[in-house]
Parts: sequence; C-alpha cells; structure tokens
Amino acid sequence: MQKSTVELSQEQLERQRRAMERVRRMTESMPAAPLAFVDTYGCQQNEADSEKIRGMLSAMGYAFTQSEAEADVIVINTCAVREHAEQRVLGIIGALVHTKRAKPDQIIAVCGCMVQQEHIADTLRRSYRHVDLVFGPQALWRFPELLEKMLTGRGRLFETSDEPGVIAEGLPVRREGNIKAWLPIMAGCNNFCSYCIVPYVRGRERSRRPENVIEEARELVAEGYKDITLLGQNVNSYGRGADHGVDFPELLRRLSEIDGKFLLRFTTSHPKDASERLFQVMASSPKIARHIHLPFQAGSDRILKAMNRNYTKAHYLELVEMARHYMPDLVLTSDVIVGFPGETEEDFEETMSLLRAVRFDALFTFMYSKREGTPAARMQDDTPREVIHERFERLVKLQDIISTEKHAAFVGKTIEVLVDGETGDERYPLSARTNGNRLIRLTGPKSAIGSFVFARVTDSNKWSLFGEMV
Ligand code: SAH
Ligand code: SF4
Ligand code: F3S
Repeated sequence: MQKSTVELSQEQLERQRRAMERVRRMTESMPAAPLAFVDTYGCQQNEADSEKIRGMLSAMGYAFTQSEAEADVIVINTCAVREHAEQRVLGIIGALVHTKRAKPDQIIAVCGCMVQQEHIADTLRRSYRHVDLVFGPQALWRFPELLEKMLTGRGRLFETSDEPGVIAEGLPVRREGNIKAWLPIMAGCNNFCSYCIVPYVRGRERSRRPENVIEEARELVAEGYKDITLLGQNVNSYGRGADHGVDFPELLRRLSEIDGKFLLRFTTSHPKDASERLFQVMASSPKIARHIHLPFQAGSDRILKAMNRNYTKAHYLELVEMARHYMPDLVLTSDVIVGFPGETEEDFEETMSLLRAVRFDALFTFMYSKREGTPAARMQDDTPREVIHERFERLVKLQDIISTEKHAAFVGKTIEVLVDGETGDERYPLSARTNGNRLIRLTGPKSAIGSFVFARVTDSNKWSLFGEMV
C-alpha cells in the first residue's frame, strides 16, 4: 500500500542544512547582503512554498527586494491551473532577459507547478536561455543545494523529473507580517478531477504528522498570529493511509484546543469527503471560523461525472443543508467552472439553479481551460467561445446580486472582526475580516491592526462591508 506520510530523511535534510551554511559563508564575505526577489503566482499553497523559499534564502544570508533589476537572485514561483495565467508568466519571464543583460551575474530561477510540465520545461530550456535554474514543487526542499550549484558556476540546471514527493519537515519558513499565517497540512493530490493539472504537477497526496502540524500552530499562536489557514488540495482526506488515525475533523479539534485568541480556517474542502463530523467539530469551537470553501464546480450530474468529482448535485445540496443545520451563520464560498467540454444549456441551467438554491456568500468563477495531459483535454469540446462567455456573464451577474444581498443583510449588525491592515482610503482607513472571511473596511485607529475588535456594519456593496469600530 502507498504510504501517505513519506518524510524526508534526516540525512537529506542535513545535506540541505550544510548547503545553506556554505552559502551563508559565501554571502557573509560579500560587502553587503545580496538581494533576492521572490514572485508568486497561483494558490495559497504556492504562497506557502514561497515562504519556504524566502526562509531558505534568508538562512543563506539573502535580504529581499521588490525590484527585479536590483536582485541578485530572482525566483518566479508559477501556477499551471489555467492557460491564461501561464501565458502571462511566460511574458514576465521573457522580460527578465533585460535585467539579466544589465546584471549578467543575476541568477534567474523558475519553479512551481508550471515547470513540472514537460512541454514548459522544454520551452524554457530552448527559448528562455537566460533562465538558469528550473525546479518543480517536489524538488523545493533541494533549493539550497541547487542555489549553491548556481553560485559555484556549473551551468544551467533543470530539476523537474516526475517524483511522487515527500513531506519535508524542519526547513526554515519566512512569513510576511504576524497576523495571518498559512499552515500546510498536506501536499499533492490524488483526486484527478478530469480537467485539473494539479495531481500531475504536485505529486501524490501526503499528509504531515499531526504532532508536527500542532507544534507549528502552537508556535504561530505564541508568535502572535491571529488567523491561521490550514492548507491542502483536499483537507478532508488528511491522514488517509497513515497509521496515526487522526483524520481532518480530529486534527481540527486538537488544533482548536490550543490556548490563546486566534481563528482557524482551512482550504480546500472536497465535497466527496466532507463529513457530518467536520461540521460538528466546526460548530463546537469558537476558534474555528464559521466559513467553508466548498467548490462544487458544476451543477449538472452528467458534467460532475465527466469531471470525475464523485458526488451529485443532490449530495452537494444535502451537505450544505447539514452544514447550515450545525452552523446557521455559516459563510459558504465555492468555485465553479463554466464551459467544461460538452456543457449544454441544460447543464449550465443546473449550475444556475444550484447557485439559486445555495446562495453562496462569494463565488470564484472560472472559464474552463484545456490542460494538456488531462482526460478532459481529449473530450469533444464544441461549445462556441461566445456561448461560454455569455454563460459566464450570466453566472457572474446572478452571483453579484446574491453577494450584494448577503452583504446588505449585515448592515446594522455589530460583529467581531480581525483588523489586518490599512486600505489607503481616508474614509475607511482600516481593512478587516469577519469571522467568515468577508472583507470589511473600517473607521478606527491604526493601533487596532492585529487585534480582534467589534464593529458596527454601516454599509455594504457586492465586494465588501463598511463599518465603524465600537
Ligand atoms: N483542490 C482544490 C482546487 C484547486 S484549483 C479543489 O478541488 O477544490 C482551484 C480551482 O481552479 C478549482 O476549484 C477549479 O474551479 C479551478 N480549475 C482547476 N482546473 C481548471 C481548469 N482546467 N479550467 C478552469 N478552472 C480550473
Ligand atoms: Fe484539482 Fe480536483 Fe485535486 Fe482539486 S481535488 S486539486 S480540482 S484534482
Ligand atoms: Fe496553481 Fe499549482 Fe496552486 S497549479 S492553483 S499553484 S497547486
């Protein structure tokens, strides 16, 4: 049987530590700390990976810059989920040829999901000669060694072989700020939804040990973080195949027992594995946000089947009802794809009717993007672009009405929110998040940043709430 916890050996970890140490000695002998620029595309998982890259760079003596021109090392962490995003990133990588020309010693690295696809690695190899280092998500933990090779001048390096991936504990992490933190609990994906590239580029699903997750969460709370988001492509299958017997609801329950004032969130939940027990645990603790992001992807059973999602519309609606039974104030958000191969007008109407039935607080709407190598890419796809665009518009319009109404229902209420930054808007200088992760712009003093405060909601629109601190 395939084990779900495949940990990096101490020996391999030690090798990376020694590489970091050697690079640090090199950078220390420089007149000033060299600069790194890390640019991130894609999901929170990629954000969390970039925090590891920054952690390793920092341990190797690098300081950070936002300027490509100034950087000694550039790392572009890419996403492959949709073609449009890939094209954009290729443009950005292409433009780096100029910074490299002005600064020939600059090291340009491209990593993340996109480069794990063979055709992209080939394109970079052949047509982007200014790119020095390319490594996929499963090679992330080898970054210290790879960077050292770059610094000691051994030509270009591509580390994109197909690996199932490991769990690498004990590498440094450098997070931004100290209010919100990403906390990966697992990596990879085994679900193979037919449209999705993630399982091909992120390796097999594997979970961290519960004690490691709990320890890191404890440290975050001790450091003052107030909002911790547990990350996985499908958190509901956490621990599957491992011998510790801790599943996701149990992990969540144990985390909610950590002392201190903080909120736990998690993303993403796959409906096929969401359980009653999950909703019970969520409802049982004020430390777990009353928010669930539960992507439904499509309303038509025929399309759900073709997507390999393993649930029906009726099952999805039952889950929503069950979740709301335990948490009447639950904030529910979702993802949906428009224009999956073969989607008919009737199929699309099922999506619209699901939207009306559930009334999500917010919805992320995506137009289907063909991903080479996935089963959906081989399916007959003859819906005209204009039809898909028109459906997309209808969907967005309906959701806008629902979001606006949902937000308006908050007006007049006093709610607890976490102030997380400034808006730059004089009238509402503070930005905050409700328990359900809705954006609220607030009046109030800057000193409130990083605290939970009570706010009276005074106004709203389709994107946000407005209010005053009380
Ligand atoms: N693991 C998460 C989703 C990760 S990708 C989950 O299953 O919920 C985030 C979202 O991108 C998906 O929910 C889906 O709506 C969208 N997506 C993924 N592949 C896509 C594709 N080929 N075309 C369009 N949207 C896609
Ligand atoms: Fe992609 Fe499906 Fe895995 Fe989500 S669960 S990452 S949509 S394959
Ligand atoms: Fe993109 Fe990879 Fe995340 S493909 S959405 S960065 S898992």
